[in-house]
Amino acid sequence: MMKSIKKIVALILAGIMMFVLAGCGGTDKADPAPKAATSSTKKIGVAMPTQSSQRWIQDGKNMKDKLEKLGYTVDLQYAEDDVQAQVSQIENMITNGANCLVVAAIDSNALVNVLEQAKKNNIPVIAYDRLLMDTDSVSYYATFDNKGVGVAIGKYIEEKMGLKEGKGPYNIEFFAGSPDDNNAHFLNTGVFEVLKPYLDKGQLVTVSGQTNFDAICTLRWSQETAQKRMEDILSGYYSTGKNVDIVVSPFDGISYGISAALEGAGYKVGQKWPLITGQDAELMASKNIMSGKQSMTIFKDTRVLADKCVKMVQAVLEGGQPEINDTTSYNNNKKVVPSYLCTPVPVDKNNIQKELIDSGYYKKAELE
Ligand code: BGC
Repeated sequence: MMKSIKKIVALILAGIMMFVLAGCGGTDKADPAPKAATSSTKKIGVAMPTQSSQRWIQDGKNMKDKLEKLGYTVDLQYAEDDVQAQVSQIENMITNGANCLVVAAIDSNALVNVLEQAKKNNIPVIAYDRLLMDTDSVSYYATFDNKGVGVAIGKYIEEKMGLKEGKGPYNIEFFAGSPDDNNAHFLNTGVFEVLKPYLDKGQLVTVSGQTNFDAICTLRWSQETAQKRMEDILSGYYSTGKNVDIVVSPFDGISYGISAALEGAGYKVGQKWPLITGQDAELMASKNIMSGKQSMTIFKDTRVLADKCVKMVQAVLEGGQPEINDTTSYNNNKKVVPSYLCTPVPVDKNNIQKELIDSGYYKKAELE
């Protein structure tokens, strides 16, 4: 008797279990993805420069999501373009037992000491998008072809303005990025590699005379600094009826500053409004491309960059070789850092649908 009661109870319990499993645990959604066994306790410190521009917010989010999916714990910090704050954040990551650091530097030369500390603690470091200079404490570098960005900007101008066909002269003004960011130098080299012959021939004329990097660079890639410089150029060199036809901008944020200065000086979109370039395919820049305020931008798919960087993290922590496609270009004064260069894509009105919407980077409604 006792035995059969036990049997009945066992059967009822089994039935309840099956019911519960079928109802709650049966869908893929509720089933968490299996964690990579080796990575579950490892901490990754991700140091990003600023949340003032959209791209870095996306970069940080992509890195965090992708690393967490693999079971890593992520300490994501933004330093809001304050160099000392970034040093402290990295120090804290080291103190808190980070197993690997991913760093997008504010000032690429300012992290030498803190990275030395990382090295002493056997913490591998990966440079994210911006090269870490003057240090041997960096294992890999994930970035875009930074000179390629400049070349693409230059070629866009060459083609749209018919420079190969001898057209011109056009008035052109140049803006470069932050002098403490190695990318800014690479980009600028690319721009001038394409456009210098046209300056030499007189098809392009820089009325301000400002073409040297030191004169055209923009500390911290600041929109306000760029706007002020453009205002000064317009009032100082273009007030006598001259029109600026082209403005080379290395970053969408800088393009907004340039546009504001042009509007302030009476320029109107569609009426002798200059060709303005950019970089990052920020949402606002993409909208400005649709409305004609900005001519083009450079799309850098941060999803791809994060993928490549995560593979580097896995390689240094779990063993193995990450994907590398450049072992010569990025010498940081201490070593040539093995790099993966993603491909930048120039985007204007003609291919914005394909590159930004069809690729799922933005939804069509976001650009309207
Ligand atoms: C990045 C650019 C970005 C710029 C300003 C550079 O290091 O390569 O994509 O536009 O920083 O944030």
